Amino acid sequence: EEIEKGGFEHFMLKEIFEQPGVMRDVMRGRVRLEENRVRLGGIEDYLDTIRGAERIVICACGTSWHAGLIGEYLIEEFARIPVEVDYASEFRYRNPIIGRGDVVIVISQSGETADTLAALRLAMQKGATVIGICNVVGSTIARETHCGMYTHAGPEIGVASTKAFTAQVIVLYLLALALSEGRTLPDHEIGLYLRELAAVPEKVERILAQNDVVMEIAQAYHQSRNCLYLGRGFNFPVALEGALKLKEISYIHAEGYPAAEMKHGPIALIDEDMPVVFIATRDTTYTKILSNIEEVRSRKGHVIVIASDGDEDIRRLADHVIHIPSAAGPVTPLLNVIPLQMLSYHIATLRGCNVDRPRNLAKSVTVE
Ligand code: G6P
Repeated sequence: EEIEKGGFEHFMLKEIFEQPGVMRDVMRGRVRLEENRVRLGGIEDYLDTIRGAERIVICACGTSWHAGLIGEYLIEEFARIPVEVDYASEFRYRNPIIGRGDVVIVISQSGETADTLAALRLAMQKGATVIGICNVVGSTIARETHCGMYTHAGPEIGVASTKAFTAQVIVLYLLALALSEGRTLPDHEIGLYLRELAAVPEKVERILAQNDVVMEIAQAYHQSRNCLYLGRGFNFPVALEGALKLKEISYIHAEGYPAAEMKHGPIALIDEDMPVVFIATRDTTYTKILSNIEEVRSRKGHVIVIASDGDEDIRRLADHVIHIPSAAGPVTPLLNVIPLQMLSYHIATLRGCNVDRPRNLAKSVTVE
């Protein structure tokens, strides 16, 4: 086991640090920069069906569901096809309105999650075209779908998903661009978004190099009992994922919210004992998030901000800042989630938790 960990203390840490390499593997052969094109061999024969879909429904559980939410933002933004995201466990029991003409995407790292498999079978029965995004090659979900794409993240051992998540988001990003080809985006714009994506692995390396900064923040907050994560747009699902990572492995109660919803509930919880993690990299909602940060500060909450490189002003409002290389909005989830994974990891180890095998959780939930 020690050899498999490759010198890292835990599988989770190893898998966090593997992400730049995994990201390059996911893109290999699929990103055609010279042609401004995406090539997705696994779904080639179905691309026209998906492009013609009236809507797309994404079903998944846990972290894969969060990737699905980012997929919704990406597919709607790039390809302008309406997308709904459902928990597989809810989809299967609510007699969903689905049929021919609909496309269902199931996302599962293991390819064996019972609820996701049941959702896939139901969608098939109702005549939908079903696409899988799986990590484990030859898994049941990968075998039963009409077509699909593998995430090529390699075996993920840590129960808390990290590299499989970023690989899923990249596959969804590529799918969204492939669906927009010849329809909603001109080739040169597809080229721009592909170059933004191709630049991500190196930017992730720069974020990983800030391990010490994240460690210091972990030291300041590892005894907290609660934590709030706020983000907007593409980064609202990242807030959910950051909160899930923390609760899974450190057992600190954490919630993720769209930042603007703060005033409809979570603001009541803010006092000097509440750390709030803001994802506030520069994009269209940046100024709105700044006012949310002010609101937390005025109630004495502790503010940790994920900000864009060069944003030094933000220090005025924050107790701690983690700077992230600048990037186009649609790729920012792939960058912003990294320090949140690192933060949960360090907080959990400082609390003495078993990060690779957290209590009560399973890597793959194959029963209902
Ligand atoms: C379990 C794991 C999570 C995972 C979820 C869905 O809860 O602990 O890490 O996100 O199942 O698993 P899947 O294999 O379908 O992506």
